[in-house]
Amino acid sequence: MSKIFFLLATLRFATACADVCNEDDGAYVMSTFPNVAPVPTCSEGYKSFPRPGYNWCMKIYPAILKNFTEAEALCTADGAVPSGHQNDVEESWITRTAITVQAEYGYTIGGVWLGLHITLGCDYTGFADDSPNCGTNSFEWTDGYTTGSSQIKWAEGEPWQSNAYQCALMAAYSAGNFPDNDFEALPTQVINVACNTRYASRPFQTRTTIVCGKPPTEYS
Ligand SMILES: *[C@@H]1O[C@H](CO)[C@@H](O)[C@H](O)[C@H]1NC(C)=O
Repeated sequence: MSKIFFLLATLRFATACADVCNEDDGAYVMSTFPNVAPVPTCSEGYKSFPRPGYNWCMKIYPAILKNFTEAEALCTADGAVPSGHQNDVEESWITRTAITVQAEYGYTIGGVWLGLHITLGCDYTGFADDSPNCGTNSFEWTDGYTTGSSQIKWAEGEPWQSNAYQCALMAAYSAGNFPDNDFEALPTQVINVACNTRYASRPFQTRTTIVCGKPPTEYS
């Protein structure tokens, strides 16, 4: 049966039972018409990204000089959580968008808070470079959806093995704005930092934005 026929049949039923309707004569047909199935979409302001088996929605919020807890509250208010990136397409969108958002506040170089936290059991007993060392597996995604770790581009020497640096930032700046200091995280590279501070002397460690994420929750 073609869709056209289906539609006509539906209209006919709808007309025929304009006064009295029950599930046997039209209303049931209407509700099972394949094109009216609700489609989950991202909340307003969130961008949709296809992932294997589902879509993921992300938004960049300005979080100028906010510590992790303060920035996370921006996500929570939306029913979202600090997000991870599943692949290079998402990573690239996050930094491009963060650069635009932070520029509105006068920052050409900044860092994006990620939903990436030190792995339980890999935290360190002291402030110094001590064991255990879980290497590049020292951190894990916290959004409940993002998987894998090979997409994380740790800056050289990162993650720094210190219990004091349990959160993570992604460097966001355009190639023409390399920070003028002795240590660089290239754009999209990730460093671990203290969760409770709002800035650092190095510009790419200045907390400027956060990436929030959640599954599609609206219906069109
Ligand atoms: C962030 O700052 C707030 C307000 O000063 C403070 O209550 C909170 O403990 C800080 N967050 C972290 C992770 O330390």
